[in-house]
Amino acid sequence: MRTDYCGLIDGRYLGQTVTIKGWAHRRRDHGGVIFIDLRDREGLVQVVFDPDIPEAFAIADATRNEYVLEITGEVRARPEGTTNAKMITGQIEILAKSITVLNQAATPPFQIDDENLSENVRLTNRVIDLRRPVMQKNMRLRYRVAMLIRNYLDGLGFIDIETPMLTRSTPEGARDYLVPSRVHDGQFFALPQSPQLFKQLLMVAGFDRYYQIVKCFRDEDLRADRQPEFTQIDIETSFLNEDEIMDITESMAKHVFKEAIGVELGDFPRMAYDDAMRLYGSDKPDLRVSLQFTELTDLMKTEEFKVFRGAADMENGRVVGLRIPGGASISRKEIDDYTKFVAIYGAKGLAYIKVNDVTNLSNGEGSGLQSPIVKNLSEACLQEIITRTGATTGDLIFFGADKEKVVNEAIGALRLKVGHEKGEAAGYFTRGWKPLWVVDFPMFERDDDAGRWNACHHPFTSPKVEHIEFLKSDPGKCKARAYDMVLNGWEMGGGSVRIHRADMQSTVFEALGIGEEEAQNKFGFLLDNLQFGAPPHGGLAFGLDRLVTLMTGAESIRDVIAFPKTQRAQCLLTNAPNEVDEKQLRELHIRLRNTQQANLA
Ligand code: AMO
Ligand code: AMP
Repeated sequence: MRTDYCGLIDGRYLGQTVTIKGWAHRRRDHGGVIFIDLRDREGLVQVVFDPDIPEAFAIADATRNEYVLEITGEVRARPEGTTNAKMITGQIEILAKSITVLNQAATPPFQIDDENLSENVRLTNRVIDLRRPVMQKNMRLRYRVAMLIRNYLDGLGFIDIETPMLTRSTPEGARDYLVPSRVHDGQFFALPQSPQLFKQLLMVAGFDRYYQIVKCFRDEDLRADRQPEFTQIDIETSFLNEDEIMDITESMAKHVFKEAIGVELGDFPRMAYDDAMRLYGSDKPDLRVSLQFTELTDLMKTEEFKVFRGAADMENGRVVGLRIPGGASISRKEIDDYTKFVAIYGAKGLAYIKVNDVTNLSNGEGSGLQSPIVKNLSEACLQEIITRTGATTGDLIFFGADKEKVVNEAIGALRLKVGHEKGEAAGYFTRGWKPLWVVDFPMFERDDDAGRWNACHHPFTSPKVEHIEFLKSDPGKCKARAYDMVLNGWEMGGGSVRIHRADMQSTVFEALGIGEEEAQNKFGFLLDNLQFGAPPHGGLAFGLDRLVTLMTGAESIRDVIAFPKTQRAQCLLTNAPNEVDEKQLRELHIRLRNTQQANLA
């Protein structure tokens, strides 16, 4: 029987006999003595085989990497000079008395301690990849975070109620994953994008405080912080307003960071959505970078320079400056690279001014401003740019001029890139944790292509009471009772106070261009139940994968999910999705449009 985990045997065990089971991490032959590092989920321990026990020695000699072994031996101190202070087991080793091979292993596709593996290789061989200590640590941290959350919410009287996976489409802004019905020809379930409507209905049903750690499914373009199936910590309460909901969830986030990784987050500042967009061009600003946008749109309306004037005069146009303290030392080559970088976000160029001498702001020969554009701007304008940005000798100012969306995305991304690359040395980047709440979101965003309004959060979010009048007259002005929790530039969670009255819900559907018939057809079950005494209610959902990714410092949420999908929404381990046979399709009443497949049928 196993007496101990490998990775936990330390100096207190000296002289004891232990039996351990695990994987041969590494075997080394040291002229007559064999060492095997045996690994289990708790870590490594060094085992020594002497030739005086020939049977054990022979087995050890034939052992290869990743063989599964049972070893019994005596714990002894490592000889002086061979100890390792970084490991729990670094002071000791085990002198083997017996060894059994529980299973052999084929040569693994890579060494467990190889740090330079491509993600494709890792995901194809995910089982071996998961043996790596860093992945074991990540999965255990994820479990710990989930348990801390369960205990915290349980302590506050929240109860976990499961909601269906086979359901109707919920609009959270992504495409649905559909599941065909065998029993109902031509009909489909949707996998939930979130349990949004069910959790609201649980409030109508009187449960008062609900939570669930739950899978959600969204067929959307994937990025480092997105997966097609991901896990939400989903929360809903009755009778609380936005401040109370934010207080509970903020306290929970602080508690989890403290207990899981020993980090004190401190109180979360609140920032209005409009301010976040104005200063950072983003509704999830990374406040570790202190650089801010300077608004210049109004100023450029009276300048001749076409690039800026054109953007300033455009509907939804914007011109901003981004002051980089000490940035005058940024080289021409670096500026060219930044110009290519902002082009990814649609920027047509990246104008800049280097402030070599702030006491000489002329726009002609010998100016203290070094730039391809100063000759195009009036001296009054240059003076105003310097005043507004607060730039001084040695600084650089970048400019973005385009549609608001392009400027926000391009200069927002540039703010982060320059901030991360140069900010630590120059004092505009601080390491650590910068949480905040972004509040006062608009209710709607304009979809110009479709010529309609979309819900910014989701269509069940309550408008601010004082803005109800704008629902019909000027939807763009209407703010929502919605809030996002942001940490280091990532949206950790989002939620809102909901609409709890059927008439208000109908008005909002109307503003979204969802007619009465469509509303009844899609959301009749909600509208009907709101009529039976729905309490005021609201909630929030955190992304568990994102939370754990930030805590581990991993680059992608794929590193905290045991079996994730690739950026192309595939599972390389099982090769899903895959083709299915004709019989299965027939039962589901499906004929493929793809001709090659159809011909096979
Ligand atoms: P929302 O759509 O903002 O709100 O989602 C809540 C949180 O879930 C996480 N998240 C994701 N994580 C990984 N991959 C994805 N594709 C993905 N999409 C979202 C984010 C996000 O903040 N029903 C509402 C919540 C509510 O109003 O209570 C909702 O789903 O961390
Ligand atoms: P141009 O007149 O196109 O040669 O551009 C003059 C300067 O303005 C160059 O430094 C360009 O990189 C920059 N520029 C051009 N378009 C934009 C834009 N939309 N936003 C910011 N800078 C721009």
